Amino acid sequence: MLNHDSNQRLCRVGPDDAMGLAMRRYWLPFMAAAELAVGDDPRGVELLGERFVAWRDDSGRAGLYHQHCLHRGASMRLARAEGDGLRCIYHGWKFAVDGTVLDTPNVADPKFKERIQGRTFPVREAGGLLWTYLGPRAQEPQFPHWPWMDLPDAQRLITRHVEECNFVQVIEGLVDSSHLGLLHMNGLQQSGDVDLGFAQKVNSMQRNLAPRLDVQDTDFGFYYAALREIEDEQGARTEARIAAFVAPCCVLNPNGDIATFVVPMDDERTAFIHIFWSETQALNREPLRSQHLEFIGLTPAVLDAFGLTDETLGRADRPNPRNHFHQDRAAMRQGTSWSGLPGLIEEDVAASVSAGALRDRQHEMLSIADVGVTRLYRTLLACADAVEQGRAPLGIGRGVDWSQVQGTHGVLASEDWRDLIARRQETESEGAA
Ligand code: FES
Ligand SMILES: [Fe+2]
Repeated sequence: MLNHDSNQRLCRVGPDDAMGLAMRRYWLPFMAAAELAVGDDPRGVELLGERFVAWRDDSGRAGLYHQHCLHRGASMRLARAEGDGLRCIYHGWKFAVDGTVLDTPNVADPKFKERIQGRTFPVREAGGLLWTYLGPRAQEPQFPHWPWMDLPDAQRLITRHVEECNFVQVIEGLVDSSHLGLLHMNGLQQSGDVDLGFAQKVNSMQRNLAPRLDVQDTDFGFYYAALREIEDEQGARTEARIAAFVAPCCVLNPNGDIATFVVPMDDERTAFIHIFWSETQALNREPLRSQHLEFIGLTPAVLDAFGLTDETLGRADRPNPRNHFHQDRAAMRQGTSWSGLPGLIEEDVAASVSAGALRDRQHEMLSIADVGVTRLYRTLLACADAVEQGRAPLGIGRGVDWSQVQGTHGVLASEDWRDLIARRQETESEGAA
C-alpha cells in the first residue's frame, strides 16, 4: 500500500519528477537496432514523457534528437535525414548524430554554427538494441556489458510491444511468481505437450500455486526467489526459481535466457522489450523464430490484433478496458479457458492495463505473495531518493559485474536458495576462465 504522494513519486517519469530524474541516470534501450536502417525516414521515439526522433547517418551511426529543433522548435519528425546529418525543414539547420551543427543556411556568419550544439543524446548500439542516456552529461554512467550482447544476432530474438499503462504495474507482473499458475494456467497446462525448452522448464509451476517467496537486496536491485514444494512422479523436492530485478526497469528470468526491459514511454504508456537468447540455437532464424514467437504469443499478428503496437495502441476496435478485452465468457463457462483471453501476453496485458492507466495503490491489500512487489516499490523509491539527495542510484558507479547478474533455477537440497546463485556464478567464472 502506498499513499497518493508516494505512488505518484514511484510512477511519474517526466523530466521534473523524482523517478524521472532517477531513470535518466541509466542507459535505456529504446528500439531494436534492426528497425532503423540507413536512408530510413526519422522515426519517432517516446521515452520518459519526452519525444525524440531517431535516424541513421550515411555511415550507419544512429542518432537521437529531441523532437524540437534547437532553433525555434519545429518538429524534427518532419526533418530530412540527409547524408551526414538531420536537417530541419524550417530554416535548414543541420545536425550530426553527436550534436555538431553542420549547417545554418539562413545565418550568413559561418562561425555561428561553431558556437552552438544540437539537441542530440548519446546513442549506443549493443545486443541488437539502440540505447540512450538522457541524464546530465557529466554523470553519464559506464555502459553495461551484458553477456547476451556478445552473441551473434542469429542467437538473439528481440521483440517490442507497447501497453497502455504505467511501467511499475508492468514490472510487478515480472516479480510476482504466484500469478503464473493462476492467470496463465491454460498456457502452462498446454506447455507440457510442446517441444520447446522454455515450455518444459515452466511446466512444474502449476503443481504448486502458493510458492514461498523471498528477496535479497543487491548492488543492482534485488534477487527474487519463488520456492515450490513439488511432489509428483519424480518424487518430493523444493524447486527454486530466482529472478533478478535490475534497476530501474529490467528483469532477468529464472531460466537465464530472457531479459526484459520495461521502459516508460510516458506516465501511462510503456514499451516492453524482450530479449530471448540461446548459447547454442539460432533463435532468430526460421523455424525457431516463428516457433518461439508463436509459443510466447508475440507474433506480429497477435500484437496487431490486441492493439500492442505503436500503430494500434489505444484503438477503440482493439481489446481494451472499455470492451473488457473481448473476454470470451462462453469459453470460461465451458471450462476451456480460465481467463477468457487468447494467450500469455494478452493475459498479462489485460491484468496490468485493467488496473488503470496509473493504478491507485492506496487501497491495495498486499499479502505474503507480494514480497517481490513490495521490494520493487522500495527499490525504485530508493533510487529516486538517492538521486534527489545527490547520490548515485542503484547499479551506477558500484562496479557491478554484469556477467554475474542473471536469474537462475534449480532443486534445493538442504541449502539456502542464495547458494544456487553462488553456484551458478562459480560455473560462469570457470566457463570464462
Ligand atoms: S526551427 Fe529548425 S531550423 Fe529553424
Ligand atoms: Fe504473466
